[in-house]
Amino acid sequence: MADVILSLSQVNKTYVTRKNGRNRNVWAVRNVSFDLKRQHIVALVGESGSGKSTIAKLITGVERSDAKSGSILFEQKPLAEWRRHMREYRRHVQMVFQDPYAALNPLNPVNYAVGRPLTNYKKLRGQAREQEIEQILQQVHLTPVREFANKLPFELSGGQLQRVVIARALASSPKLIVADEPVSMLDVSIRAEVIGLIDELRTQAGVSFLYITHDLISARLLADEIVVLYRGTVVESGDAKTVVREALHPYTQLLLQAIPNPWAPEQDENFDMSLLERTGDDTGCVFRSRCPHAMEACAKTAPTLQPHGEKQQVACLLYSAESREPVNS
Ligand SMILES: Nc1ncnc2c1ncn2[C@@H]1O[C@H](COP(=O)(O)OP(=O)(O)OP(=O)(O)O)[C@@H](O)[C@H]1O
Ligand SMILES: [Mg+2]
Repeated sequence: MADVILSLSQVNKTYVTRKNGRNRNVWAVRNVSFDLKRQHIVALVGESGSGKSTIAKLITGVERSDAKSGSILFEQKPLAEWRRHMREYRRHVQMVFQDPYAALNPLNPVNYAVGRPLTNYKKLRGQAREQEIEQILQQVHLTPVREFANKLPFELSGGQLQRVVIARALASSPKLIVADEPVSMLDVSIRAEVIGLIDELRTQAGVSFLYITHDLISARLLADEIVVLYRGTVVESGDAKTVVREALHPYTQLLLQAIPNPWAPEQDENFDMSLLERTGDDTGCVFRSRCPHAMEACAKTAPTLQPHGEKQQVACLLYSAESREPVNS
């Protein structure tokens, strides 16, 4: 499909860690599949440790997926082929990190941070480089541009710094930006502005975004599609509004119930937070031990992502023809 810019199919990543003198496999990403269409925003949502950053690292080429694992296609070309042209790949696929303070060199002014990729990737110098820096700073609303261009990171607020990081990512004219929790370290009052900027850049600069977040509400606001991850596995995905309005997977439903709702305090009081705690059971469905609807079959079968209606996919035996006898009732 020509309008799909990024496609992950059955991607796996296992880390080998050492504990008590023994090697232990940590399965960070399991059989993950999803597509990102051109100029679309896909939100990757999940709690801490669900594999979001690992997926970002696999897509940006920082980490390699397991041997004999599925494929990552960018512009219909496997990442394995792009690895021979990594410089070109990095130009097309940029990353924005969570912490703008750590992402920028404190000794370099804004125009250096934004200008470097212009020199590296576009060979721009002198006046042409200056003009492009100005245009990019305008695009991220760091105005008056001349004032901001010479500022050092310590002279900027968190929100302004994240705009500089986004400007630096934009400088190579990327087709895709992977933004790993880009607003979670920012003050709540400026999160909406940065989210608004991402939306604007998608429309005006034609960039596609993978927006990584803990937060289903910002995902619903910004994204076209949502992919819900639980312990490295996609449990639900589909049209953002549909996934939030008609969540199918018990985990997505729990995430939605856990969102503080000032208009429905009694709902929050009744919500059992222990359902969101992790346990270490790895057989059958990954969510089985926390699932309020667990059935016997869930211990035996790991459900795969299946279409449900026209706009959603879900990996849950509740929506398949398997046994429906509850285990924990
Ligand atoms: N380099 C590594 N070595 C070993 N295990 C790792 C490594 N990187 C990640 N992991 C493990 O992989 C799993 C997924 O981690 P990841 O950082 O992708 O989660 P995340 O969803 O980004 O979490 P957070 O929301 O806290 O950023 C975790 O269990 C983590 O401990
Ligand atoms: Mg992370």
